[in-house]
Amino acid sequence: MSGAGPPQAANRAPSAGGIEAASAASVGVQLYAGVMSGTSLDGIDAVLADFAPGARPCTLLAATHVAFPSDLRRELFALQSAGDDEIARAARAANQLADLYAHALRSVCLAANAGAHDVIAAGVHGQTVRHRPQEGWTLQINNAARVAERAYMTVVADFRMRDIAAGGQGAPLVPAFHAAMFRAPDRHRVVANLGGIANLTDLAPRGAVHGFDTGPGNVLLDLWCARVRNTPFDAQGAFAASGKADAALLAAMLAERYFARPPPKSTGRDLFDAQWLERALSAVRWDGAAEDVQATLAALTARTLADSVRKHCKGATELVLCGGGARNADLVQRIRGELTGVAVTTTDALGVASEHVEALAFAWLAREALAGRPGNLPAVTGASGPRVLGAVYPR
Ligand SMILES: Nc1ncnc2c1ncn2[C@@H]1O[C@H](COP(=O)(O)OP(=O)(O)OP(=O)(O)O)[C@@H](O)[C@H]1O
Ligand SMILES: [Mg+2]
Repeated sequence: MSGAGPPQAANRAPSAGGIEAASAASVGVQLYAGVMSGTSLDGIDAVLADFAPGARPCTLLAATHVAFPSDLRRELFALQSAGDDEIARAARAANQLADLYAHALRSVCLAANAGAHDVIAAGVHGQTVRHRPQEGWTLQINNAARVAERAYMTVVADFRMRDIAAGGQGAPLVPAFHAAMFRAPDRHRVVANLGGIANLTDLAPRGAVHGFDTGPGNVLLDLWCARVRNTPFDAQGAFAASGKADAALLAAMLAERYFARPPPKSTGRDLFDAQWLERALSAVRWDGAAEDVQATLAALTARTLADSVRKHCKGATELVLCGGGARNADLVQRIRGELTGVAVTTTDALGVASEHVEALAFAWLAREALAGRPGNLPAVTGASGPRVLGAVYPR
């Protein structure tokens, strides 16, 4: 995923199961692009989608994943904590990111046979290097002006700060899109995104939409796998499946106060990092097998998600997974084991490949911003009211 050499744009075919590969040349299309590079630091997901009025908010036209070149990935990891000359280093990394974002935007346009001028706007999230809503700020490095310049598109960026300024967490921001895309009138569905951090959206058929970050998704799984196996992630969860979750280590991890805190809440690498894992291992004087740590970390993601569903989404009958963790068979199996009586599927079954959901959400948030509509849900983030999110950089 973080291979050396030039970035590669592997244009993924739109998933089976309902998304049509439409042509941007059709009449009446409203094209928006979305670009997400998340906490896992695995690379960039970009999509181009048509938001012309229809039954569902959008139709995916093209998607791409651009892996980070290894030097940039190393720097983005390093920038997650304080270091020498970090302001200048962050600015340089932001420029490198912006060039990759623009490259990803050009790739999805090419794949959909669309011109940059056909795209109304691109929502570009940026790369989170700190998330400190309790201090009134969060930082997604990006150079949106440079993306606008190089991709020839109107760019909407900096989605989180306005919600934080209004007293919110600035996260999660995807629940409003999850609701627009996946809410069903006849069933109580919960959508969970298993990214670096896991977040859920409670879509009861009636009433307000709720959501929050449940805790680590893949971030600790990736960290341990990289440390002991020198691979960036545990493909299909095979390494975790070869071990056995340790009850004492799991209990030490579950003692983390974040898990018991009531929503609204959000988190990131600021909390769930290498030191956090070290503290848990030291608390039990761990001397067991490496695969058992991997299994325990998978159990932690599954348990904290399941506990959140049980406690905060009472009556839910369906859990729909998205994000990279939905590709981890062992993790999905553990979540199923935790939530008997709840049908656990992925968004693929609803017509959207699980790896495209977050990038689509930022295309949708760009559209909401340009329309002057709020993108946050105060019941989710805790903001004092609905706010239009994002800063606009016209093409
Ligand atoms: N085949 C797979 N098997 C196991 N894990 C996978 C697989 N594919 C992806 N992943 C996991 O998913 C992660 C990437 O997921 P994703 O891109 O959704 O997270 P993210 O970049 O943190 O995004 P966000 O912050 O928006 O949720 C990888 O780091 C890896 O842990
Ligand atoms: Mg990612």
